[in-house]
Amino acid sequence: MTLRTRFTEMVGIEHPIVQGGMMWVGRAELASAVSNAGGLGILTALTQPTPDALRAEIDRCRTMTDKPFGVNLTILPSMTPPPYAEYRKAIIDSGVKIVETAGSKPQEHVDDFKAHGITVIHKCTSVRHALSAERMGVDVISIDGFECAGHPGEDDVGGLVLIPAAADKVKIPMIASGGIGDGRGLVAALALGADGINMGTRFCATVEAPIHDRVKQLLVSNDERGTNVIFRKLHNTARVGKNSVSDKVVDILAKPDATFPDVADLVKGAKGRVLLETGDLDAGLVWAGQVQGLIDDIPTVAELIGKIMADAERIISERLPAQLRVTSST
Ligand SMILES: Cc1cc2nc3c(=O)[nH]c(=O)nc-3n(C[C@H](O)[C@H](O)[C@H](O)COP(=O)(O)O)c2cc1C
Repeated sequence: MTLRTRFTEMVGIEHPIVQGGMMWVGRAELASAVSNAGGLGILTALTQPTPDALRAEIDRCRTMTDKPFGVNLTILPSMTPPPYAEYRKAIIDSGVKIVETAGSKPQEHVDDFKAHGITVIHKCTSVRHALSAERMGVDVISIDGFECAGHPGEDDVGGLVLIPAAADKVKIPMIASGGIGDGRGLVAALALGADGINMGTRFCATVEAPIHDRVKQLLVSNDERGTNVIFRKLHNTARVGKNSVSDKVVDILAKPDATFPDVADLVKGAKGRVLLETGDLDAGLVWAGQVQGLIDDIPTVAELIGKIMADAERIISERLPAQLRVTSST
């Protein structure tokens, strides 16, 4: 059985599985492994220090796979924003055909990508933002439930409601994420109306993820309670792995008059990078979702995708029919 959907046909991949953009993790090693295994791997633009470095990373990824891969451009509020337009130009000049955008006000980026014939997947966390992205002209909606690592938005709606609520209204292909890590999640997402899945945390616990082994082991040992939700009062809610740093951020921001400068040093991106590279689990924030509760091993990407697909197919063709004892009413 193959699970072909509108989404797999649109982007030219074998399996309806995407590896979402991940700061410091979305490098050529991981993206090419996902694409080689029949999914859609995605490089993370801002992980590269300059637009020229991104050009080089795209070239490097091309030497590692001849399958389609994409690039993520995340637009987040920042005191000193990166040169987004220059990163966008690097993506366009490099001939990349698929882009994942995320964050606020993507219109000018979407317009430019579309003008250059690029397929745009826009990731968002609410039905209303999905509909506004659809109106903006994106090709695919990626809907990320409250379970997810990263920025789940301010509505706190989990995938079990968010995915079908979005599917009821979104007309273009839609992929779903947040808490998905195995074949059961894939089948559930398809049943809820998605055309595929996107995963972040699960792909961090693979052989090819370019991060320290201690971080991968942490994802295996943590359960579904192993996250903290931070920055709620700053209206920039983020779900991160539970560690001494995120516990401290929760404590500090719980004080009524605390503001971002009180935690700015603790949450610096550079510190999170040190954590991922050195395996010092208290060096900074570690981004991870509730799906940690479903992660028990550190397979290769090909093993992971192979197992997800095999399990999904078994659930659809064997487990559900046996479990339901379906009888025809005609
Ligand atoms: C380590 C890590 C870093 C991430 N960085 C980004 C990012 O820079 N941009 C973005 O759009 N999403 C980012 N995400 C979110 C993922 O792309 C994806 O939407 C999310 O992980 C899905 O939820 P899951 O972790 O439950 O699979 C990150 C996730 C992780 C685990």
